[in-house]
Amino acid sequence: MTLPTNADAGRQNFRTSVINLDRPGDPTVFGERTRAEAAEIIARYPEGQARSALLPMLHLVQSEQGYVTADGIAFCADTVGITKAQVLAVVTFYTMYKRKPTGEYLVSVCTNTLCGVLGGDEIFAALCETLGVGNNDTTPDGTITIEHAECLAACDYAPVLTVNYEYFDNQTLDSAGDLVGKLQSGERPQPTRGAPLCSFKQIERQIAGFFDERTLAPDAVGSGRATEAGVRLALERGDTAPSYALERDDAKRDHAKRDGAKGDDARRAGVKPEGAEPAQPEAAKQRPSSHDAPLTTSAEDTSHAHRTGSGAGSEPGKGKGE
Ligand code: FES
Repeated sequence: MTLPTNADAGRQNFRTSVINLDRPGDPTVFGERTRAEAAEIIARYPEGQARSALLPMLHLVQSEQGYVTADGIAFCADTVGITKAQVLAVVTFYTMYKRKPTGEYLVSVCTNTLCGVLGGDEIFAALCETLGVGNNDTTPDGTITIEHAECLAACDYAPVLTVNYEYFDNQTLDSAGDLVGKLQSGERPQPTRGAPLCSFKQIERQIAGFFDERTLAPDAVGSGRATEAGVRLALERGDTAPSYALERDDAKRDHAKRDGAKGDDARRAGVKPEGAEPAQPEAAKQRPSSHDAPLTTSAEDTSHAHRTGSGAGSEPGKGKGE
Protein backbone atom coordinates (compact mmCIF):
# COMPACT_ATOMS: atom_id res chain seq x y z
CA MET A 1 0.00 0.00 0.00
CA THR A 2 1.35 3.43 -0.93
CA LEU A 3 0.75 5.85 1.87
CA PRO A 4 -0.10 9.40 0.89
CA THR A 5 2.04 11.79 2.89
CA ASN A 6 0.86 15.00 4.50
CA ALA A 7 2.47 16.82 1.59
CA ASP A 8 0.30 14.79 -0.84
CA ALA A 9 -2.72 15.60 1.27
CA GLY A 10 -1.79 19.28 1.17
CA ARG A 11 -1.56 19.22 -2.62
CA GLN A 12 -5.03 17.69 -2.80
CA ASN A 13 -6.44 20.27 -0.42
CA PHE A 14 -8.88 22.40 -2.38
CA ARG A 15 -8.22 25.29 -0.01
CA THR A 16 -4.81 25.78 -1.52
CA SER A 17 -6.17 25.94 -5.08
CA VAL A 18 -7.60 28.97 -6.81
CA ILE A 19 -11.22 29.49 -5.87
CA ASN A 20 -13.51 29.94 -8.79
CA LEU A 21 -16.78 31.60 -7.97
CA ASP A 22 -18.36 30.57 -11.24
CA ARG A 23 -21.48 32.67 -10.74
CA PRO A 24 -22.39 35.68 -8.67
CA GLY A 25 -24.65 33.76 -6.26
CA ASP A 26 -28.35 34.13 -5.59
CA PRO A 27 -29.19 34.99 -1.99
CA THR A 28 -32.92 34.46 -2.64
CA VAL A 29 -32.54 30.66 -2.66
CA PHE A 30 -32.74 30.76 1.14
CA GLY A 31 -36.28 30.56 2.43
CA GLU A 32 -38.25 32.32 5.12
CA ARG A 33 -37.07 30.10 7.95
CA THR A 34 -33.38 30.61 7.14
CA ARG A 35 -33.92 34.35 6.87
CA ALA A 36 -35.67 34.43 10.22
CA GLU A 37 -32.85 32.41 11.80
CA ALA A 38 -30.24 34.69 10.23
CA ALA A 39 -32.03 37.65 11.83
CA GLU A 40 -32.02 35.77 15.15
CA ILE A 41 -28.24 35.23 14.88
CA ILE A 42 -27.63 38.90 14.11
CA ALA A 43 -29.79 39.91 17.09
CA ARG A 44 -27.29 38.13 19.38
CA TYR A 45 -24.77 40.89 18.67
CA PRO A 46 -24.82 44.59 19.58
CA GLU A 47 -26.74 46.87 17.26
CA GLY A 48 -24.68 47.94 14.27
CA GLN A 49 -22.37 44.92 14.61
CA ALA A 50 -24.13 42.56 12.18
CA ARG A 51 -20.81 41.60 10.61
CA SER A 52 -19.86 39.91 13.89
CA ALA A 53 -22.55 37.34 13.09
CA LEU A 54 -20.70 36.06 10.03
CA LEU A 55 -19.20 32.91 11.57
CA PRO A 56 -22.49 31.40 12.83
CA MET A 57 -24.20 32.63 9.65
CA LEU A 58 -21.81 30.53 7.58
CA HIS A 59 -22.62 27.49 9.73
CA LEU A 60 -26.31 28.20 9.17
CA VAL A 61 -25.67 28.23 5.43
CA GLN A 62 -23.82 24.90 5.72
CA SER A 63 -26.72 23.43 7.70
CA GLU A 64 -28.94 24.19 4.70
CA GLN A 65 -26.70 23.35 1.78
CA GLY A 66 -23.98 21.12 3.23
CA TYR A 67 -21.24 23.54 2.21
CA VAL A 68 -20.70 27.23 1.48
CA THR A 69 -21.98 27.83 -2.03
CA ALA A 70 -21.81 31.00 -4.11
CA ASP A 71 -25.44 31.51 -3.04
CA GLY A 72 -24.44 31.15 0.62
CA ILE A 73 -21.68 33.71 0.22
CA ALA A 74 -24.06 36.17 -1.44
CA PHE A 75 -26.67 35.54 1.28
CA CYS A 76 -24.19 36.19 4.10
CA ALA A 77 -22.80 39.29 2.37
CA ASP A 78 -26.30 40.71 1.82
CA THR A 79 -27.52 39.88 5.31
CA VAL A 80 -24.62 41.19 7.36
CA GLY A 81 -23.78 44.07 5.03
CA ILE A 82 -20.27 43.26 3.83
CA THR A 83 -18.82 42.36 0.44
CA LYS A 84 -18.71 38.84 -1.00
CA ALA A 85 -14.92 39.14 -1.11
CA GLN A 86 -14.90 39.73 2.65
CA VAL A 87 -17.11 36.68 3.20
CA LEU A 88 -14.87 34.60 0.95
CA ALA A 89 -11.79 35.69 2.88
CA VAL A 90 -13.34 34.25 6.04
CA VAL A 91 -14.57 31.08 4.33
CA THR A 92 -11.13 30.29 2.99
CA PHE A 93 -9.40 31.03 6.30
CA TYR A 94 -11.28 28.57 8.52
CA THR A 95 -11.18 24.87 7.73
CA MET A 96 -14.66 24.28 9.17
CA TYR A 97 -16.16 26.05 6.16
CA LYS A 98 -16.41 23.64 3.26
CA ARG A 99 -16.19 24.68 -0.37
CA LYS A 100 -17.36 21.38 -1.80
CA PRO A 101 -20.47 19.31 -1.00
CA THR A 102 -19.90 17.46 2.26
CA GLY A 103 -21.08 13.93 2.98
CA GLU A 104 -23.47 12.97 5.76
CA TYR A 105 -20.43 12.27 7.93
CA LEU A 106 -17.29 14.37 7.96
CA VAL A 107 -14.48 12.09 9.12
CA SER A 108 -11.49 14.12 10.31
CA VAL A 109 -8.33 12.14 11.02
CA CYS A 110 -5.69 13.87 13.11
CA THR A 111 -2.32 13.76 11.36
CA ASN A 112 -0.63 16.32 13.57
CA THR A 113 2.66 15.30 15.20
CA LEU A 114 1.54 13.18 18.15
CA CYS A 115 -1.35 11.43 16.42
CA GLY A 116 0.72 11.15 13.24
CA VAL A 117 3.58 9.24 14.85
CA LEU A 118 1.21 7.08 16.87
CA GLY A 119 -0.62 5.88 13.77
CA GLY A 120 -2.75 8.79 12.53
CA ASP A 121 -0.88 9.01 9.20
CA GLU A 122 -1.44 5.30 8.50
CA ILE A 123 -5.08 5.51 9.55
CA PHE A 124 -5.68 8.45 7.21
CA ALA A 125 -3.95 6.68 4.32
CA ALA A 126 -5.78 3.42 4.94
CA LEU A 127 -9.18 5.11 5.12
CA CYS A 128 -8.50 7.03 1.91
CA GLU A 129 -7.61 3.75 0.23
CA THR A 130 -10.62 1.90 1.62
CA LEU A 131 -13.04 4.66 0.66
CA GLY A 132 -11.34 5.28 -2.70
CA VAL A 133 -11.17 9.04 -2.15
CA GLY A 134 -8.52 11.59 -1.30
CA ASN A 135 -8.32 14.39 1.20
CA ASN A 136 -11.44 16.58 1.26
CA ASP A 137 -13.23 14.20 -1.07
CA THR A 138 -16.60 12.57 -0.61
CA THR A 139 -17.53 8.98 -1.37
CA PRO A 140 -19.77 8.60 -4.46
CA ASP A 141 -22.70 7.53 -2.25
CA GLY A 142 -22.47 10.85 -0.38
CA THR A 143 -21.94 9.13 2.96
CA ILE A 144 -18.44 10.15 3.98
CA THR A 145 -16.15 13.10 3.42
CA ILE A 146 -12.64 12.48 4.67
CA GLU A 147 -10.11 15.11 5.65
CA HIS A 148 -6.91 15.18 7.60
CA ALA A 149 -6.82 17.60 10.49
CA GLU A 150 -3.96 19.26 12.32
CA CYS A 151 -4.58 18.65 16.00
CA LEU A 152 -8.11 17.89 17.09
CA ALA A 153 -7.30 19.07 20.63
CA ALA A 154 -7.43 15.56 22.08
CA CYS A 155 -3.72 14.70 22.00
CA ASP A 156 -4.10 12.77 25.27
CA TYR A 157 -6.19 10.19 23.36
CA ALA A 158 -3.92 9.96 20.30
CA PRO A 159 -4.44 8.85 17.68
CA VAL A 160 -7.92 10.33 17.40
CA LEU A 161 -10.44 11.02 14.72
CA THR A 162 -13.73 12.85 14.82
CA VAL A 163 -16.97 12.23 12.97
CA ASN A 164 -18.99 15.42 12.63
CA TYR A 165 -16.74 16.79 15.39
CA GLU A 166 -17.53 14.02 17.90
CA TYR A 167 -14.50 12.16 19.26
CA PHE A 168 -13.40 8.60 18.64
CA ASP A 169 -10.35 8.15 20.83
CA ASN A 170 -7.31 5.85 20.74
CA GLN A 171 -7.88 4.64 17.22
CA THR A 172 -6.16 1.79 15.41
CA LEU A 173 -6.24 0.79 11.75
CA ASP A 174 -8.87 -1.82 12.64
CA SER A 175 -11.11 0.37 14.79
CA ALA A 176 -11.06 3.24 12.27
CA GLY A 177 -11.81 0.86 9.38
CA ASP A 178 -14.64 -0.70 11.37
CA LEU A 179 -16.06 2.74 12.18
CA VAL A 180 -16.26 3.98 8.58
CA GLY A 181 -17.65 0.59 7.50
CA LYS A 182 -20.49 1.02 10.01
CA LEU A 183 -21.13 4.59 8.91
CA GLN A 184 -21.38 3.46 5.30
CA SER A 185 -23.80 0.70 6.21
CA GLY A 186 -26.14 3.15 7.95
CA GLU A 187 -25.11 2.64 11.59
CA ARG A 188 -24.27 5.49 13.92
CA PRO A 189 -21.68 4.22 16.42
CA GLN A 190 -21.56 6.02 19.77
CA PRO A 191 -18.56 8.37 20.04
CA THR A 192 -16.07 7.67 22.85
CA ARG A 193 -17.11 10.87 24.59
CA GLY A 194 -19.73 13.54 24.07
CA ALA A 195 -23.08 13.54 22.32
CA PRO A 196 -24.40 10.87 19.95
CA LEU A 197 -23.67 11.24 16.26
CA CYS A 198 -25.94 13.29 14.05
CA SER A 199 -25.64 14.30 10.40
CA PHE A 200 -23.26 16.98 9.14
CA LYS A 201 -26.15 19.37 8.48
CA GLN A 202 -27.57 18.79 11.95
CA ILE A 203 -24.26 19.47 13.66
CA GLU A 204 -23.81 22.62 11.59
CA ARG A 205 -27.20 23.80 12.84
CA GLN A 206 -26.08 23.23 16.40
CA ILE A 207 -22.84 25.13 15.80
CA ALA A 208 -24.94 28.01 14.44
CA GLY A 209 -26.70 27.97 17.82
CA PHE A 210 -29.95 26.18 17.00
CA PHE A 211 -30.49 23.06 19.05
CA ASP A 212 -32.69 20.13 18.30
CA GLU A 213 -33.59 18.01 21.31
CA ARG A 214 -33.24 14.83 19.27
CA THR A 215 -29.52 15.51 18.78
CA LEU A 216 -28.73 16.79 22.26
CA ALA A 217 -27.15 14.85 25.11
CA PRO A 218 -27.11 17.19 28.09
CA ASP A 219 -25.60 14.52 30.34
CA ALA A 220 -22.79 13.56 27.94
CA VAL A 221 -19.33 13.63 29.49
CA GLY A 222 -16.80 15.49 27.37
CA SER A 223 -13.60 14.80 29.28
CA GLY A 224 -12.02 11.67 30.68
CA ARG A 225 -9.22 10.27 32.81
CA ALA A 226 -6.35 11.23 30.54
CA THR A 227 -7.48 14.85 30.25
CA GLU A 228 -7.87 15.18 33.99
CA ALA A 229 -4.61 13.44 34.99
CA GLY A 230 -2.85 16.73 35.75
CA VAL A 231 -5.72 18.02 37.85
CA ARG A 232 -5.90 14.72 39.74
CA LEU A 233 -2.18 14.79 40.46
CA ALA A 234 -2.38 18.40 41.63
CA LEU A 235 -5.22 17.47 44.00
CA GLU A 236 -3.26 14.54 45.42
CA ARG A 237 -0.17 16.67 45.96
CA GLY A 238 -2.10 19.68 47.21
CA ASP A 239 -0.63 21.86 44.47
CA THR A 240 -2.23 25.20 43.88
CA ALA A 241 -1.77 27.89 41.29
CA PRO A 242 -2.33 31.61 41.68
CA SER A 243 -5.86 32.61 40.81
CA TYR A 244 -6.44 35.01 37.98
CA ALA A 245 -8.85 36.72 40.33
CA LEU A 246 -6.06 37.25 42.87
CA GLU A 247 -3.72 38.50 40.15
CA ARG A 248 -6.37 40.99 39.17
CA ASP A 249 -6.71 42.00 42.80
CA ASP A 250 -2.93 42.53 43.01
CA ALA A 251 -3.14 44.78 39.97
CA LYS A 252 -6.06 46.61 41.57
CA ARG A 253 -4.07 47.05 44.79
CA ASP A 254 -1.14 48.52 42.85
CA HIS A 255 -3.56 50.77 41.06
CA ALA A 256 -5.19 51.73 44.36
CA LYS A 257 -1.76 52.61 45.81
CA ARG A 258 -1.15 54.93 42.88
CA ASP A 259 -4.68 56.33 43.28
CA GLY A 260 -4.02 56.72 46.98
CA ALA A 261 -0.97 58.85 46.27
CA LYS A 262 -3.00 60.85 43.77
CA GLY A 263 -5.85 61.05 46.30
CA ASP A 264 -3.57 62.52 48.97
CA ASP A 265 -2.53 65.21 46.50
CA ALA A 266 -6.18 65.78 45.54
CA ARG A 267 -7.34 65.95 49.15
CA ARG A 268 -4.62 68.46 49.90
CA ALA A 269 -5.95 70.42 46.88
CA GLY A 270 -9.59 69.91 48.09
CA VAL A 271 -10.91 67.92 45.04
CA LYS A 272 -12.32 64.35 44.64
CA PRO A 273 -9.63 62.05 43.14
CA GLU A 274 -10.50 60.89 39.60
CA GLY A 275 -11.31 57.16 39.09
CA ALA A 276 -11.16 56.38 42.83
CA GLU A 277 -12.94 53.06 43.58
CA PRO A 278 -14.62 52.06 46.84
CA ALA A 279 -12.62 49.61 48.97
CA GLN A 280 -13.33 45.92 48.13
CA PRO A 281 -14.63 43.68 50.89
CA GLU A 282 -12.14 40.91 51.80
CA ALA A 283 -14.42 38.11 50.50
CA ALA A 284 -14.70 39.70 47.05
CA LYS A 285 -10.90 39.86 46.77
CA GLN A 286 -10.64 36.09 47.23
CA ARG A 287 -13.35 34.97 44.79
CA PRO A 288 -12.17 32.26 42.38
CA SER A 289 -11.97 32.85 38.68
CA SER A 290 -13.96 30.64 36.31
CA HIS A 291 -10.55 29.61 34.96
CA ASP A 292 -9.45 28.17 38.29
CA ALA A 293 -9.33 24.37 37.95
CA PRO A 294 -10.49 21.99 39.18
CA LEU A 295 -14.20 22.54 39.56
CA THR A 296 -15.62 19.38 37.99
CA THR A 297 -14.41 15.99 36.93
CA SER A 298 -15.94 13.16 34.95
CA ALA A 299 -18.21 10.45 36.28
CA GLU A 300 -16.04 7.75 34.72
CA ASP A 301 -13.08 8.80 36.84
CA THR A 302 -12.98 6.13 39.54
CA SER A 303 -10.43 7.96 41.65
CA HIS A 304 -12.83 10.90 41.70
CA ALA A 305 -15.70 8.60 42.73
CA HIS A 306 -13.54 7.21 45.53
CA ARG A 307 -12.48 10.65 46.70
CA THR A 308 -15.97 12.11 46.82
CA GLY A 309 -17.67 8.97 48.06
CA SER A 310 -19.88 8.96 44.95
CA GLY A 311 -20.01 5.98 42.63
CA ALA A 312 -21.75 4.48 39.63
CA GLY A 313 -25.09 6.11 39.12
CA SER A 314 -24.05 9.41 40.66
CA GLU A 315 -24.84 12.52 38.70
CA PRO A 316 -22.14 13.22 36.09
CA GLY A 317 -20.08 16.34 36.56
CA LYS A 318 -21.04 16.82 40.21
CA GLY A 319 -17.82 16.71 42.15
CA LYS A 320 -16.38 17.86 45.41
CA GLY A 321 -16.45 21.54 45.90
CA GLU A 322 -19.50 22.17 43.73
S1 FES B 1 -1.98 15.71 17.85
FE1 FES B 1 -3.85 14.70 17.40
S2 FES B 1 -5.26 15.64 18.73
FE2 FES B 1 -3.45 16.77 19.03
